[in-house]
Amino acid sequence: MTTPPATGNGAAPAGNGSLPAWLPDEQTLTRMAGEFFRALPGQPPVPDGTPDPGLPANGTPADLPPPAPRSRPSTPSGPPPTSAPVTHGAAAAGHGLPFVPEIPTLMNLASQPGVPAAAPTAAPTAMPTPDPGGFYFLSGVPGYTPAMPATPGFGHAATASIPEAAAPAPAGAHFYFVDPERASEVPELPLDPHPAFDVHAVRRDFPILSERVNGRPLIWLDNAATTQKPNAVIERLVEFYSRENSNIHRAAHELAARATDAYENARRTVAKFIGAGSAEEIVFVRGTTEAINLVAKSWGAQHIGQGDEIVISHLEHHANIVPWQMLAEQTGAVLKVIPVDESGQVLLDRYTALLSDRTKLVAVAHVSNALGTVVPISEIIEIGHRAGAKVLIDAAQSVPHMPIDVAALGADFLAFSGHKIFGPTGIGVLYGREEVLADMPPWEGGGNMIADVTLERSIYQPPPGRFEAGTGNIADAVGLAAALDYVDRIGLSQIASYEHALLEYATAGLRDIPGLRLVGTAADKASVVSFVLEGYEPVEVGTALNEEGIAVRAGHHCAQPILRRYGLEATVRPSLAFYNTHDEVDTLVAAVRRLSTRTGRR
Ligand SMILES: Cc1ncc(COP(=O)(O)O)c(C=O)c1O
Repeated sequence: MTTPPATGNGAAPAGNGSLPAWLPDEQTLTRMAGEFFRALPGQPPVPDGTPDPGLPANGTPADLPPPAPRSRPSTPSGPPPTSAPVTHGAAAAGHGLPFVPEIPTLMNLASQPGVPAAAPTAAPTAMPTPDPGGFYFLSGVPGYTPAMPATPGFGHAATASIPEAAAPAPAGAHFYFVDPERASEVPELPLDPHPAFDVHAVRRDFPILSERVNGRPLIWLDNAATTQKPNAVIERLVEFYSRENSNIHRAAHELAARATDAYENARRTVAKFIGAGSAEEIVFVRGTTEAINLVAKSWGAQHIGQGDEIVISHLEHHANIVPWQMLAEQTGAVLKVIPVDESGQVLLDRYTALLSDRTKLVAVAHVSNALGTVVPISEIIEIGHRAGAKVLIDAAQSVPHMPIDVAALGADFLAFSGHKIFGPTGIGVLYGREEVLADMPPWEGGGNMIADVTLERSIYQPPPGRFEAGTGNIADAVGLAAALDYVDRIGLSQIASYEHALLEYATAGLRDIPGLRLVGTAADKASVVSFVLEGYEPVEVGTALNEEGIAVRAGHHCAQPILRRYGLEATVRPSLAFYNTHDEVDTLVAAVRRLSTRTGRR
């Protein structure tokens, strides 16, 4: 049998001898403690299918389905993992757990007079890994009202607390692998101020980087448009479609549980990656463009009216201009623009002067996709908030290149695209502060976003479900989480410092080429070196570089206003990622230099 039995409402088992009624039974406690100790560093791994040492011999009832297979995302090269790979062990943990319908009126039936209370839920008996995020039925899917209040002893929070209480750290032992008696014999190694970043090892994680184009090794310098995908992501997608694929949230079958777990765990991964307070603050969308349109159509329609002001910067991608123009047209609001200096940095004093008590929203890019300018968003947010405005950060070009902590920043909204951070296309994220999302109406109607529908009216889910009408991009959300885990394991600080050095190297190499003009020279830049070359249209440079296997973007980069600020319609835009090398930059510089000296130059 593969369908987990519907086992009722998740209420705690009846009191068990001397144990308080809210605690799980002794067998479950023993098993949890066993899992905890097994999870400690230095403990031998328990292979799939090995009986849980914390279980009695007969601990797994024969009629329960086998545990879901563990996912095995490929381990990236570079520093050791900083976070555990995503598994769908949580799905296995859910065997025998109750299915929760999404309609609140049904959810409360069990407490209605005349409705028999459901049988106590059996504690999960086959848990391959300690439950990292809980089974979605129990721990509360963001945006999906749980059927029953969380019961102590069940769900991930309680699971985590029990082993903690059961296994106090031995006093005085700081490192499990150091014998305190012989600690003085352990040699002290000097701290390496430049932690290893082995770009060649990292490159082996990206199969496409071994491609040849026009007989030359591919040099991918179009990362601002989209990034390449590591095996960890490719394999995760294969695994999802091979073993987990199902629609989510409403089905009492195994694959729906696996897919829902994977999707909701992906939401938790995103929340953790950007420092959000909770997974409820994460809305899955198609990408940055859709995220910004969502805010304009939902929050904007509710909060912006005639004469109100929306402030953007001159640097914006069209995705952060057009939705606000549309909103302004519909409402009679006014769009104001923060100017930039010659280097391409926003002028903070001019920004401050633009704000008024009519300013309702400030929406700016963290990193300009056309120039690479890193905008001081902490100041932008602080100044915007002081004026009483909400602040949206377009982080499409920053999330892949530098650590972001939305809670520390205090942004009201932040948007990014999965495909620019080594994840799949068609998936992206809108982060919204909990209070702000809670106050927003849905922007699209349909399935999934509702709690209850009659022919007369609909009741909506709370955020984030309210904003995810229809079947979402389930597999790619899971793929995005694999990408974020991958980046996390390498470390964004390492990535940022490696890329910074590479950007300086590329800038220095290109700057000296005769006839080359850099466009965007701000002191603080990331990833992008935009330029024009005298005698060539940007597209001609792009085509010539392609002949040498070098992929760069040439055009307006969907940021026409900022290019026109410099009297240009297009630039050549190499953009870097952490898998690019100094050798690749040398090849680029040499190719552009050859073009600059070619006699046929106009
Ligand atoms: C700064 C910025 N914002 C928004 C976008 C739009 O992203 P997407 O096309 O993934 O929605 C991009 C894409 O290049 C971008 O660079």
